[in-house]
Amino acid sequence: MLRRRDLLLSALAAASLPALPLMARAQTAAAPLLPAGTPRLPAEFVWGASTSAYQIEGAVAEGGRKPSIWDVFSHTPGRIADGTTGDVACDHYHRYPDDVALMGDLGLQGYRFSLAWPRVMPDGTGPVNAAGLDFYDRLVDSLLARGIQPMACLYHWDLPQALQERGGWHNRDIALWFADYARAAVQRLGDRVKPWAMLNEPSVHAIFGHGFGNHAPGLTGWDSYVKAQHHLNLAQGTGIAAVTGLHPGLKLGTVLSLQPIFPASQDPADIAAAARFDACWNTINLDPLFHGRYPELFAEAFAPLVKPGDLETIRAPIDFLGVNYYGPSYIKHEPNAFLGQASWGALPPDTPTTLLGWPISAQGMVDVLARLRDTYGNPPVFITENGACYEDPAPVDGVVADPARTEYLRAHLVAAGEAIAQGCALKGYYVWSLLDNFEWAEGERRRFGVVRVDFASQQRTPKQSALYLSSLMKAQRGRAAP
Ligand code: FCB
Repeated sequence: MLRRRDLLLSALAAASLPALPLMARAQTAAAPLLPAGTPRLPAEFVWGASTSAYQIEGAVAEGGRKPSIWDVFSHTPGRIADGTTGDVACDHYHRYPDDVALMGDLGLQGYRFSLAWPRVMPDGTGPVNAAGLDFYDRLVDSLLARGIQPMACLYHWDLPQALQERGGWHNRDIALWFADYARAAVQRLGDRVKPWAMLNEPSVHAIFGHGFGNHAPGLTGWDSYVKAQHHLNLAQGTGIAAVTGLHPGLKLGTVLSLQPIFPASQDPADIAAAARFDACWNTINLDPLFHGRYPELFAEAFAPLVKPGDLETIRAPIDFLGVNYYGPSYIKHEPNAFLGQASWGALPPDTPTTLLGWPISAQGMVDVLARLRDTYGNPPVFITENGACYEDPAPVDGVVADPARTEYLRAHLVAAGEAIAQGCALKGYYVWSLLDNFEWAEGERRRFGVVRVDFASQQRTPKQSALYLSSLMKAQRGRAAP
């Protein structure tokens, strides 16, 4: 995802401790991780893993698939840190039976994957590609045969390039194009797949893909960002409307990236910048979805795009919210940053980080869920992504030691239990990610998997973190170890 280190406009210079974050139930930046312990989660809690199509499937020119914006972007020299592409990635398109068998062996109960729009509707609109849907049909059947509940996400950033050429997320018609695609997918698979997420992290797609330009389609600037963000919100609503009632028992939702936002210092300019960043990252999706309005800070900026009825469309009720949680952000005033003069600032001294420089705070996950409880009506929530990037050693005697990732996951699972104890409607947890994969602008060099992938041989080796999760999942369900 974000090459946050590259985006930090100030060095890790001395930063005073921030004021309270812009979250309903705040911690201070100095608050420790939640105490050590074994996660305690209810028996009905769903344990799963997440992936996305472009990051794992490969087979980009097979079965009638046509290019997406990520094919074009990753093939553009200089765009991906290590020069890799998603052409092969984890070759999951061919290896899915083995991957599903592995998930079953690990004891997963849920699997969140995304459908590639350019596999299902290669030109973005018009004819449905039966072969593309056949692939997902086979995947779903093999998951169900192993007792794994599929959760499908309709859009994880891989827009058909043909639609980009018609303006992509800048073209208001995309809300209708998306609805047609969503209908085709849910019509075919919704007899067996019940939870459906419309979009993955629309604010991240808008900010990085259409504002900073370090993700596909590589567009930059404030106006570009605003247009993309509004049309993403709109598509989430038209998508829900298009698929409602297509099959009995569907559970419809969407997936947002949420994080606590802290000002990088007590300077009023930084505090104001943090408020703007909170609006861009969090409430730009939450407020229209749950309250039918844009955050006050940006209401004026979005007003020219909002047509009568749009906010009602976006507010269509959802059955669940997926939350992707990685950690908090520290924000400073930056006059030239397109995000309303807000940019990433220095972290407080001694803040633990992962390899990407992302701050670690399991407590932040409790805070995010408490905000949903207190401000947004406590919707049923799944943590649909949570995980950590570290440099992993090569396997030794078939074992990949990843203690830092294992500890990250443990601490966040303790936080999940804590959030439930505090009354949050958290129903499940999907680790990011099942497999090491193509990590967007970072390419294959940055690994989030609990299962190691040797990209040359395509060999999979569960890391210790996978074995840790597996033991918890099996204990939770009272399943016998294989
Ligand atoms: C999230 C993305 C996911 C992955 C993780 C690390 O923002 O949804 O695809 O890249 O970050």
